[in-house]
Amino acid sequence: MTPDEVEALIVETKRRTNRPFAVNIPLQVTPHAAEIAELVIRHQVPVVSLSAGNPAPWIPRFAEHGIKVLVVVASVNQAQKAEAAGADLVVAEGYEAAGINSPLELTTMTLIPQVASAVRIPVVAAGGIGDGRGLLAAFALGAQGVQLGTRLVATKEAPFHDAYKRRLVEAKENETVIVGRSVGRIRRVMRTPYVEKLLEYEQQGMPLEQFQEYTSEDRHRRGALLGDFHEGFILIRREDSHFNEAKRSKWEMNRLNYILLKIG
Ligand SMILES: Cc1cc2nc3c(=O)[nH]c(=O)nc-3n(C[C@H](O)[C@H](O)[C@H](O)COP(=O)(O)O)c2cc1C
Repeated sequence: MTPDEVEALIVETKRRTNRPFAVNIPLQVTPHAAEIAELVIRHQVPVVSLSAGNPAPWIPRFAEHGIKVLVVVASVNQAQKAEAAGADLVVAEGYEAAGINSPLELTTMTLIPQVASAVRIPVVAAGGIGDGRGLLAAFALGAQGVQLGTRLVATKEAPFHDAYKRRLVEAKENETVIVGRSVGRIRRVMRTPYVEKLLEYEQQGMPLEQFQEYTSEDRHRRGALLGDFHEGFILIRREDSHFNEAKRSKWEMNRLNYILLKIG
């Protein structure tokens, strides 16, 4: 997203709610990290989430302005470093998660208890959680909350193409696949015709630059917003048998809250 697009969303979110909200800055993914950081400060967004990069140099400036900082981590070492750098909370994400993952490929089940024992700040669990059962499991492992990704895509309110939502609801557990191992850039995506081609190119020895073009944000938008699975890709977490209630609920957000609260 461009800084202008991010700013428009911040303004719109403030117009719609007085409740706290966060802006995510995927540090090494966006070329606009510095501009977005300044927008967060200028608009006094209460919370910022830093992912996909080293958060340490960024944290003090947010802290100076009283902005709470969440850091997405994929290992105990990263969690400890984030805490030492002043993070208020870590989101520990296993590689079940949709989208960009750490090459460490640690699972949520093993990562959460280790991170929870290693840091004093609150730990939020992410990766493969889709309903109250997952929430309860995360609490049992030592987390104090959960961050959902894939499950939120399949809500009526999410601005994604209906074909994407339908694919999520209908997906079998073996339809998620990791791409990018050959170039050290792990990403969990849905197996689609576009992804089959990508896997083939990887086998033939795809260079990193070509992989990055193939998995660019533009290609992601084509898949996720236009529902084009031949020229674009979509993200999905591992294990997607959680969507039965989504079928019944017509993907409504309120019902998802109810299911999380009732079971969790
Ligand atoms: C469509 C989509 C886009 C995402 N974009 C980002 C992103 O820009 N930055 C980020 O830190 N995480 C991103 N994520 C990851 C989620 O924030 C979340 O941590 C992850 O999806 C949790 O795992 P789950 O998909 O198993 O619920 C994205 C996930 C999805 C499904």
